[in-house]
Order: sequence, then C-alpha cells, then structure tokens
Amino acid sequence: MAAPSDSSPQPPTHVAIIMDGNGRWAKQRGMPRVEGHRRGVETVRAITAAARELGVRYLTLYAFSVENWKRPAAEVGALMSLLEFFLKRETAGLVKNRVRLRTIGRTQDLPEVVRKQLDHAIAATAQFTEQTLVLALNYGARTEVLDAARAYAADLAAGKTQPAGDDWSAFSRYLYTADIPDPDLVIRTSGETRISNFLLMQAAYAEFVFTPTLWPDFTKADLEAAIADYHRRERRFGLTSEQVSTPSA
Ligand code: IPE
Ligand code: IPE
Ligand code: MG
Repeated sequence: MAAPSDSSPQPPTHVAIIMDGNGRWAKQRGMPRVEGHRRGVETVRAITAAARELGVRYLTLYAFSVENWKRPAAEVGALMSLLEFFLKRETAGLVKNRVRLRTIGRTQDLPEVVRKQLDHAIAATAQFTEQTLVLALNYGARTEVLDAARAYAADLAAGKTQPAGDDWSAFSRYLYTADIPDPDLVIRTSGETRISNFLLMQAAYAEFVFTPTLWPDFTKADLEAAIADYHRRERRFGLTSEQVSTPSA
C-alpha cells in the first residue's frame, strides 16, 4: 500500500559529517584549540544520539584525516587522547543503545592505546544491526583508493576475483566502506565548502549541505534542518526530472 502523501519522508539512510571548526570556535573565545576539540567531542555524543532518534541508520563522522598528522604534535597528541577518552566513556552507551561501531581509514597506524580501545568497542558492538556509527580515523579518500586498488590487484593476480569491467560494485567491495551504503547526505560545518579528501567515491551522488555553524555549536536542530534541506532536493542520478517523478516515463 502506498504511504499517505502527508506522511513524513524517510530519513536519509546514511548521513556523513565533516566535523569542522573546533579550532575557530576556541579561538573566538580566546581558548586553546584543544578546548574546541574537547567541546567537539560533546557534540559527537549529542549528534550520535540525535541521529539515532531521527532514524538515521548510518552516521559517519570524519574525525581525523591522513593530512591531520601534519598539525603541531601537541594538537595531534591531544586529539588522540580525546579519541581514547571518548571510546572509554562511550562504549557502554553504544552497547546500551545497540549501536554498532565501525571505522574507516588506516587505523593500524593509530597509537596502540587507541587501537586497543577501538578493538574493544568494535568487538563489544559487532552484533548490532539497527544503527551503525562509522568513525573516519586516519582516513583519506585517495589513500582508500590506493589500498583498494592494491588489494584488488592482488586478488586478480591470485585468481580470487574476476576483472570488474565497468561493474563498480565489484571494485567497491575493496573500499573501506565495503558493507556500508553510500552516504545520502554529506554535511560540513564551519562554512568551508570543500570535501577535504572525504568519501570521494562514495559521495558520487550524495546531497551536500554546508552550514556556517562551527562543530561545537552544531545541535540536533541543525541536523534536522540539514535533513529537511535534503528532503527538498530531487535526486536524479543522471535521469530526467520526469523519469524520477514518474518512474515509468
Ligand atoms: C575539526 O576542527 C577537527 C579536526 C580536523 C580534527 P578543526 O581543528 O579543523 O577546526 P578549524 O578548522 O581549525 O576551525
Ligand atoms: C577535515 O577538516 C578533516 C576532519 C574534519 C577530520 P580539516 O580542517 O582538516 O580540512 P581542511 O584542511 O580545512 O581542508
Ligand atoms: Mg578545519
């Protein structure tokens, strides 16, 4: 039976967020940058809960890029400590709320203490299927493509896979996001309107929302506004508007 036309639309299955603006948030207040990151962690907690309440099944958060290692060592160290702190504090809550934790990125290169916390949290939540929180850690889209191409070539050489031809789904199984659907909506905070090496392949047909709000100030209402904006868009995937509105056209 068709859904009544006045029913609220389905939330996007996968929302991915470039959490930006922690440093500027702190600077505006005359605080050290790390204070902005600390406040950013509280936003992570709030937005993870908000996404769950809004029925978003996959939430990906860009937490640390491969390029971010080039920041001052003290800031990188503080970010790693905050990550460890976040995982220690939130794992029980993820279990309670039945949220599966996943990562994308070269997590093998993260400090061992962080990897241990990650492994623990991932194992503790592996059985959950309703909701997935994906942390992009030491993530870069170009690195991901290189890693995928290397693994794909190795499997081809070993006869474990057939050449994909123009079948994207065969190659995309080698990306970090193998069993994660492509993002429907990508949000970037802080007013920057760039992608910064985030999910370049997976966001091929995502809708983008850019907001001037700095990440520590981003709230559930901002997430709802971004989703409302998403619902006003028509996703055409290369088709005409007529084809999309009347699938038989
Ligand atoms: C985002 O905030 C957090 C990370 C990239 C780790 P920034 O630290 O990039 O904040 P700005 O862009 O300097 O304001
Ligand atoms: C992107 O933010 C990376 C994360 C949010 C983790 P950056 O602040 O590192 O991006 P640029 O340098 O402004 O492009
Ligand atoms: Mg930034």
